[in-house]
Amino acid sequence: MALFLCVLFLLLSSASACDRCLHQSKAAYFSKASALSAGACGYGSLALGLSGGHLAAGVSSLYKDGAGCGACFQIRCKNSTLCSSEGTRITLTDLNHNNETDFVLSSRAFMAMANKGMGRDILKLGIVDVEYKRIPCEYKNQNLAVRVEESSQKPNYLAIKLMYQGGQTEVVAMDVAQVSLFSPRVFKL
Ligand SMILES: *[C@@H]1O[C@H](CO)[C@@H](O)[C@H](O)[C@H]1NC(C)=O
Ligand SMILES: *[C@@H]1O[C@H](CO)[C@@H](O)[C@H](O)[C@H]1NC(C)=O
Repeated sequence: MALFLCVLFLLLSSASACDRCLHQSKAAYFSKASALSAGACGYGSLALGLSGGHLAAGVSSLYKDGAGCGACFQIRCKNSTLCSSEGTRITLTDLNHNNETDFVLSSRAFMAMANKGMGRDILKLGIVDVEYKRIPCEYKNQNLAVRVEESSQKPNYLAIKLMYQGGQTEVVAMDVAQVSLFSPRVFKL
């Protein structure tokens, strides 16, 4: 029986300079967090564990054809009566097709931008002016996980999901190589 190992090569790209800039935009919210976890990035229920359920759909310039999935942002609303100056941290899990706001947040994330006790007030506004910047993701007890999806089918369909990618880089390409166990070669990632 021939045994094969698949070796993945990940090509990482550092976030571009302006990823670190402060951006001005607006944000709205989805009333159901599940709408976001079932979103374009395909995290499914795993998404609810990211940033404590502080999830967001980002416009295509942030989604980057999927390379932006899992990116982390600090976001705050600019109404100082209503919101804390610190805001909250969110993880991108979906594509926002509406170009009026850079982000549509889960309601939990949206309320987290508000001062204590003002969660309902911010929901009432529905859409707020925000400032945001990309920040490194932190996953304390987790390393990058490569998940082979159940939809994969030998020999010509391989679906892979990357989870818990710390820092502020993007996986922009992956190579999959077939390696015989009997002539092992060591690859550095
Ligand atoms: C800021 O928040 C307060 C309190 O909810 C609200 O009355 C006011 O209209 C908001 N300002 C803007 C510009 O949205
Ligand atoms: C937003 O999208 C609408 C419809 O697709 C388009 O007409 C409009 O020009 C877009 N606005 C911006 C600022 O890109």
